Amino acid sequence: MPDDTRRWMDELTAEMEERRKRIARGGGGARLEKQHEAGKLSARERLEVLLDDGSFLELGAFVEPLREGLEAPGEGVVTGSGTIDGRQVYVFSQDFTVLGGSLGKMHAQKICRVMDLAVDVGAPIIGLNDSAGARIQEGVDSLSGYGEVFYRNAIYSGVVPQLSAILGPCAGGAVYSPALTDFVLMAQNAAYMFITGPDVVRSVTRQEVSLEELGGADVHSRRSGVAHLVADDDRAVLKRLRELLAYLPQSARERPPERPTRDPVTRETPELTELVHPDQRRAYPMLEVVRAVVDERRLLEVHAGFARNIITAFAHLAGRAVGVVANDPSVLAGTLDIDASDKASRFIRTCDAFNLPIVTFVDVTGFMPGVAQEHAGIIRHGAKMLYAYAEATVPKLTLIVRKSYGGAYLAMNSRDMGADVVLAWPTAAVAVMGAEGAANVLYRRRIQAAADPEATRAQLVEEYRARFDNPYMAAGRGYVDDVIDPKETRPALIRHLQRLEGKRVERPFKKHGNMPL
Ligand code: HXC
Repeated sequence: MPDDTRRWMDELTAEMEERRKRIARGGGGARLEKQHEAGKLSARERLEVLLDDGSFLELGAFVEPLREGLEAPGEGVVTGSGTIDGRQVYVFSQDFTVLGGSLGKMHAQKICRVMDLAVDVGAPIIGLNDSAGARIQEGVDSLSGYGEVFYRNAIYSGVVPQLSAILGPCAGGAVYSPALTDFVLMAQNAAYMFITGPDVVRSVTRQEVSLEELGGADVHSRRSGVAHLVADDDRAVLKRLRELLAYLPQSARERPPERPTRDPVTRETPELTELVHPDQRRAYPMLEVVRAVVDERRLLEVHAGFARNIITAFAHLAGRAVGVVANDPSVLAGTLDIDASDKASRFIRTCDAFNLPIVTFVDVTGFMPGVAQEHAGIIRHGAKMLYAYAEATVPKLTLIVRKSYGGAYLAMNSRDMGADVVLAWPTAAVAVMGAEGAANVLYRRRIQAAADPEATRAQLVEEYRARFDNPYMAAGRGYVDDVIDPKETRPALIRHLQRLEGKRVERPFKKHGNMPL
């Protein structure tokens, strides 16, 4: 090549490098310092922590804002693909140092591009959100941008896993897009989610509220249920994202990856006999029961702080990823209330969408009674659980640990609602209601007329218990497939799970069901 052509080429390459460097700096300088001072990483640093070393492949670095004159390196978002534990993912990472990570039309198109590729390839989409929402300067174009993202979030729901990390003050569209995805993870420090920030709240309602009180990680992980997982800071959230991904397949067409284990399939669990008291009124931590059974006692709880009366967690059984749903009798006596129903049905649908068998541990007295729950629509919300279990076509196993009464018996993956296999411990009790309540309804007149009402009541309660408070009536009718020794729980669940691997279910034609919402 002649020298002058070589020089020309070098100049062009140098210009390209210079542009690339400028873009990589984002908002740079003071804005980046502010980001670090808040304990946050930059958009690119986050990708380095999230992805396998050196695996990030950037797309669209040179995209510019639609609106001329607006200084927005990289359009305020870094997009591309990479790998996590060797598995491909598509990613976007919003850059708060560029116009507050606000979303303009081209910023949205960068995100849409990786979303489209993720679906074409069959790989999860991970969004690292740090954005003040719609870019005010771009008016309706930025709203249109959000429309394009929301549309894809909805249309691609159930096609590939969509995971959202909230790592800064996210407002407006920057929270609705994550809300449409499968999982929302939040950092405890410096991450907030709200439709409108404290300033707007003040001007509309005259209420003074801090960022933390309005939409901090505690609010969303314990009260609103918007966040599925929380961790201390950016690094911890990114680590959790990697952990979570290990339970999910690349797309709905695949199974989650196996996790080889040294935990023997035949391992017995004698400790469970000590943990669960046969007296129905004694509480115990259900999480410990689940932990004892699954591979290496290892699980990832989802929504751990929200609606704690029900547990939803991912785990492995003989290397196969499963979703666990379990009542926790140590919280609100394990009753099903509105939040528990929402939490469980969402989790069941996620497992079903991504081919994770569901294992249900039951110890439940019923749906939560009370005016507040009735008025807030427990009928509508509780119906979601019935619907979600019935709809799910993945293998569904149920273990009745202790009590399983009334509507909640049906809601907790009973035989008639589509369970493939129902097992019970000898401590299980399947009935319309508990012995005390039943005796009061059935024998009220006899108790009132008795010479010693209390003694008569106690005797009748005992009679009822002997007759109904056991698993054998249900097993006798085939509603329970087997009564097992608690110490054989792990081997039994694994054997049944393995037998169900070939399960394929065809449903009658429909556009889609009309789940109660
Ligand atoms: C353009 C924005 C912006 C926005 C912030 N900035 N919000 N630029 N559009 N929406 C800019 C600021 O001007 C500033 O620029 C930089 O981003 C950082 O913002 P600060 O306010 O200095 O940061 P901080 O104090 O940390 O406060 C963050 C914040 C606040 C709480 C998010 O910025 C805020 O309340 N912004 C508005 C949020 C909002 O109402 N968004 C629209 C939502 S409506 P400089 O140059 O000074 O660094 C929406 C519709 C979608 O999204 C549809 C929903 C269904």
